Order: sequence, then C-alpha cells, then structure tokens
Amino acid sequence: MNLIETLDTYQQEALQAISQAQDAKAVEEVRIRFLGKKKGRLKEIQQELSKASREERPELGRRFNLAKQTVEQALEERKNELGKPEKKTDGIDVTLPGHPFSMGKRHPISQTLSEFKEIAGRLGFDIEDGPEVEDDYHNFVALNIPKDHPARDPLDNFYLAVAQAGHGGPWLLRSQTSTVQIRVMEQTPPPVRIISTGRVYRPDTIDATHSCMFHQMEGLYVDTDVTMSHLKTVLKMIATEYLGDDVAIRFRPSFFPFTEPSVEVDMQWGETWLEVGGAGMVDPNVLKAVGYDPEKVSGFAFGLGMERLCMKRYGIHDIRLLYENDVRFLSQF
Ligand code: DAH
Repeated sequence: MNLIETLDTYQQEALQAISQAQDAKAVEEVRIRFLGKKKGRLKEIQQELSKASREERPELGRRFNLAKQTVEQALEERKNELGKPEKKTDGIDVTLPGHPFSMGKRHPISQTLSEFKEIAGRLGFDIEDGPEVEDDYHNFVALNIPKDHPARDPLDNFYLAVAQAGHGGPWLLRSQTSTVQIRVMEQTPPPVRIISTGRVYRPDTIDATHSCMFHQMEGLYVDTDVTMSHLKTVLKMIATEYLGDDVAIRFRPSFFPFTEPSVEVDMQWGETWLEVGGAGMVDPNVLKAVGYDPEKVSGFAFGLGMERLCMKRYGIHDIRLLYENDVRFLSQF
C-alpha cells in the first residue's frame, strides 16, 4: 500500500470511528487513537512520510495535512453535537402543533326558543316560566278541561306515581304550556302580556313528526278590549320575524276548552301550509278561575309548536334528528 492509500484509509477509519463515538469520552479516545502526539496513527504515518523521496513529498505533505485537518474538524463537530442537550423523546413535545378544539354551539331547539323569546320581548311580552311537573288543577281544571275530557286520559298523559299527593289533584308531566297562563294570572292582576317557552310531555308513539317530549311557546294577553284581530296581528308579526316577510298566516275554526272562539293556526312559507298551533280568546271560565272579571277584561292566548317551526325553517324532515344528539347533525345549525 502506498502512502496516499494509507492516508485515505486512515481518514476513512477515523471518520467512521468519530461518527460512532457516542459521548465525549469516546470522542477523546478516538482523538488519541488517530491524532495522539505520542502513539496516534497519524504520528506513525508522519514517520513513514520522512522516508519518501523528494519528488513525492509535496503531494504527500498536502494529502497528509488534508487528512489531519479533516479528522480534526470532524472531531470538533462531533464534540459539539454530543455537547448539545439531549432532544427529549418522551413527555410533551412542546414544538408539536396543538389539537384544535371545535367551538360548541347551542342546540337548534335552544336557539329557536331564544329567538322566539327575543321576538316576543321586542313586541312587549314578558317572559315567564312554569314547572314541568304540574298538578291536575293547573294542567286541566283551571283551564276549563272537565273531569271526563279525553285530554285527561291516562293513556295520553304522563301521570306520576305520587298521584294524589298534592292538593291540586294528581301530578303529571305537563302536557301543555297553557299551565303557565294560569300560574301567571293567579299571581298578577290584569293587564298581563306574557309568553312562556318550555318542554311538554305526551306519550305519543315516536315517529318523524311525534316525540313524547317537545317544546311549546305559550302566549297570553289580557287587558281591556283585547280582540281576535290583535291575536292575528301578533301571530303574523311573530311568524314574519321568525320565518321571513313572505310568510302567510290563516286561522281555521277549532275547539279548545280554554278559549272561545278557538282556532288552529296555520302558516305558509314556501309551498305548503303548516299547522303550527292553537289559539283563541280566553274563555270566561278561565278568567273567572283566576279571579279576573270577564265583564271587564278580555284576552287572547296561543300555543305554538316550537319543533314544527324550527324544522320548517331549517328544512329538517324528522323530529328524531333533534333528539339523537348526533354532533354531525347538530353542528349544522
Ligand atoms: N295547549 C294547546 C295544545 O297543547 C295549544 C293551545 C291552543 C294553546 C289554544 C293556547 C290556545 O293558548 O289558546 O294543544
């Protein structure tokens, strides 16, 4: 092997040993082995060099210096590299991007209730609340629903096992928000102008348009000289605010024990008419039940189905979607 080849081999082996050194101590050992002043490999080669001929010397000298520099530099770099603090491989890597949090949203029905409360508020109605567990008196008796009325059928209501416990008769999950009319009038002398939104319960068979729990908005306005045209105007304004200017409204004659006359309320928005609730002029018997004088005051009342209106506005075709809590569905609203 000539000296040039020896130097090549030296350089190769030194660089390999350097790259394999795993700590400062190993680097120092490599330095001694390859560059050591006394017994280092380069020292041996230097001694060989002196035996070379005059002609060979300049080339060999250059190659020698190059190998020396290359090895010295590689040692220096490896030392710096190993001197750096170890990269953390466990625990938290603070340089990784975080997990994005998606913003929560209110349920479409909650949004609908808020919106209706806001609309009614702007029209001058106060917002009231009533209990969801009601007694027979507020759910039926005071609303002029007689003892033998089919609306009281145990198959159409969720009566509670604590039946007869209260002095207002058996308890039940309220089947309508009309109960709030009574509770408010019991507490407040006329005039009253309120709405109330909330859950109502009926043991219906669940399908695309029925659920055993749904939401209503009740409205009540009692004052001197309140008429049916006030009722229609208010409902038209509420419908317009919620659905848009192109909504039409119509009344169809109907019957409710607590209103006389009574109507079904339909709204048209787009192609079809949709029945959205009931309404009418508060029956004198109801006014009497709460101590109002039907000769002095009159009033209108209405009850609207919130799911129906919400579904109409958003084009939801199945009420069950609202209660399955599927985030993929709910996050659209
Ligand atoms: N409470 C009725 C129901 O649940 C709806 C209703 C009809 C409410 C007429 C009213 C009303 O206030 O005047 O079906």
